[in-house]
Parts: sequence; C-alpha cells; structure tokens
Amino acid sequence: MTTKDTLGVAVIGTGRMGADHVRRLDTVISGARPVAVFDAFPGRTEEVAAGVDGCTAYTDFSAALSAPDVDAVLLATPGKAHKEQLLSILERDLPVLCEKPLTPDSDSALEVLKAEQELGRRRITVGFMRRYDAEYMRLKALLDHHELGRPLVMHCQHRNPQPPPDFTEQMLINDSVVHEIDTTRWLLGQEITSVRVLRPAPSAAASGRMRDPQIVLFETSRQAIVDVEIFVHCGFGYQVRCEAVCERGTARVGDGGGIYLQGEGRWGGEITPSFIERFGAAYDREVQQWVDVTRAGRTEGASAWDGYATAAVCEAGVRAQDADGDRISVELIERPTLYRED
Ligand SMILES: NC(=O)c1ccc[n+]([C@@H]2O[C@H](COP(=O)([O-])OP(=O)(O)OC[C@H]3O[C@@H](n4cnc5c(N)ncnc54)[C@H](O)[C@@H]3O)[C@@H](O)[C@H]2O)c1
Repeated sequence: MTTKDTLGVAVIGTGRMGADHVRRLDTVISGARPVAVFDAFPGRTEEVAAGVDGCTAYTDFSAALSAPDVDAVLLATPGKAHKEQLLSILERDLPVLCEKPLTPDSDSALEVLKAEQELGRRRITVGFMRRYDAEYMRLKALLDHHELGRPLVMHCQHRNPQPPPDFTEQMLINDSVVHEIDTTRWLLGQEITSVRVLRPAPSAAASGRMRDPQIVLFETSRQAIVDVEIFVHCGFGYQVRCEAVCERGTARVGDGGGIYLQGEGRWGGEITPSFIERFGAAYDREVQQWVDVTRAGRTEGASAWDGYATAAVCEAGVRAQDADGDRISVELIERPTLYRED
C-alpha cells in the first residue's frame, strides 16, 4: 500500500450502512478518512459528503475510485452490484472492505475469486461484523484454545422484531442466517457440508407472507451439528444468541449483560431493538482493524473464499426451504492456495 499516515477511503453506496461508515471513518476511526463517495442515487451522495471535510461526492463510480487520495474502498452497495464493482476495484489493485454478501450467488463469487487469484494477492475483506463482537471474539478464543474440549453442537437464535416490508422467505437465509453461516464456519474452523430446514406453523404476524420461524440445521466437515432458529417477526426485539456445547462444558453469548430493571411486579433487563445497537461496537472494531491492517499493507479477516463458501451454503439453504426437511448437500470447489493460510 501507501506510506501515507492516513488511509483515504472511497465509500461506494451511501445508504443506511454506507452513510454510517462515512460517519464512522470521519469521527470514530483513527488513521483513515473518507475522501470520496459515490451512490447511484446522486442526491444521497451529496448529502453525505456535505457534512464531511475533504470528502468529494462523485457522480461516476470510476471517477470515485480514481480520485486523488483514494487508497482503499469501502463497498456498501446492495449485494447484486458487488460482482462488477469488485472486479473494477481489483483491476485497480485497491484493498476493499465489502459489506456482506461478497456476491449473492456462488457462480458470481467464483468470478471474483478468480480475479483475485489472477491478481496474486488478497485484496478483499468481507464485512461479517460478528467476528468483531467482543462476546463472539471471546467465544472464538475459548474454542480455539480448547478450554472446554471439542465443540460438538451449537444452538443459535436469530430474532428480529419485524422485517422490512419487502423481506421474502429466501431472505431468511440470504440476509439473516447468512450471519450464522459465517459464524459457524469461523467459530468451528470447519466447512458446512449440508443444510436442512424445518418449518413449523408460522406465527400469525408472518402468516400469508412467509413461513416464519424456521429451524435451519447444518452438518459440518468434522460432524458437528448446528441448529439455528430464525424468527424475524418475534415482535419483542433484536436477539442473537449462540451456545457452543463442548466435551467439558458449554459457552453462550448474546444474553445481554446490560441494565437490571425492577418494576410493576417484574424484573429483568433490556433487549436491543435492532442490529445497529447490538453490533455498533463491532462495526467500529471491524473498520478500525481493516484500516490498521490495510495501512500495514496486509489483508486479514473474512476472505473472498469465506464469501464464496457462505454463498454456496445460502444456495443449499434456500433449496432446503422447499425440501420438506431433506438434507441438501453443499458443493464447494477445492480451496485455492491463496486462501489456505487462514
Ligand atoms: N453487516 C451487516 O450487519 C449489514 C447490515 C445491513 C446491510 N448490510 C449490507 O450492506 C449493504 C448495503 O445495505 P444497506 O442496508 O445500506 O442498503 P441501502 O439500500 O440502505 O443502501 C444501498 C445504497 O446503495 C446505492 N446503490 C444501489 N446500487 C448501486 C450501484 N450500482 N452503485 C452505487 N450505489 C448503488 C443505493 O442508492 C443506496 O443508497 C448490503 O450489501 C447489505 O447486505 C450489512
């Protein structure tokens, strides 16, 4: 990379995530600043750039990438735009933090993988932010050091109060369970080999729109089993929990260790309303770490291989939603050398 003290970042896509990343790069992160922004919807770009010193709004994607002072890219457009944009970013040999997903399907993910291999070095980090959540990081360290023995089973819950109006049943897998797919592969250090989906009678809140909740079952390459309850109409808050059952004990994250409340004949705590509050600190840590390793000339974190493998599991998961509980195998290519050191 550059020998500059400050990493100049072009933020592509300035919707909900992109605008928040511009704010983060401007006010929270050290060693970087947002220097260029581009969005297909120009009004949004100008609004975001207006509040940030030294940040220029571009009306053209290529111009934003080629702008002076751009050393790296933060890609926060919808997944369907990622393939073409990542290929252009790789052509310019720029490091990129790509919001999940890498691409929406495994074929397009393979095209990106091929381009990065042709470049001969890793440039892509995929933004799976749970890897930067303090509780998940502690669980990962505990599993890596075999403190409780081998992990045998994981129980996961992923609940949202309600989904956006255009949320579909396939998005239960592609947009929600995608995070459990990444955390399963990362925490266990294993590939997911098959997926099954069980669909109980839907909640009345979801009825007519989709079958929600669903139970998604993964089998892994060293015969662990992972169950995920996905329930996006739970009504009461945003809750993400994960319990690893190991040979000599269990470890659970996501219970919420915040305020203790008493009143009106009840006691208890609070549940975060959305992923923004639950994972806000993880986004900060994710972007700071990406900036730090990029300035040091390295690429770490979830790789394009992780993005590809996750896309392949999502495809199996969507097929499994219509397979009446049957096991759907996950087919992966052999892991290329570039991605073997992880
Ligand atoms: N890690 C997480 O927890 C998390 C959470 C939410 C979203 N995401 C991911 O972040 C990305 C953005 O999601 P969002 O919620 O901010 O969506 P959003 O719809 O709020 O914003 C997307 C922005 O991209 C712009 N855009 C669309 N196509 C474009 C193109 N070809 N070129 C340039 N700009 C384009 C849109 O105008 C919009 O402003 C998605 O990949 C999504 O999956 C990740």
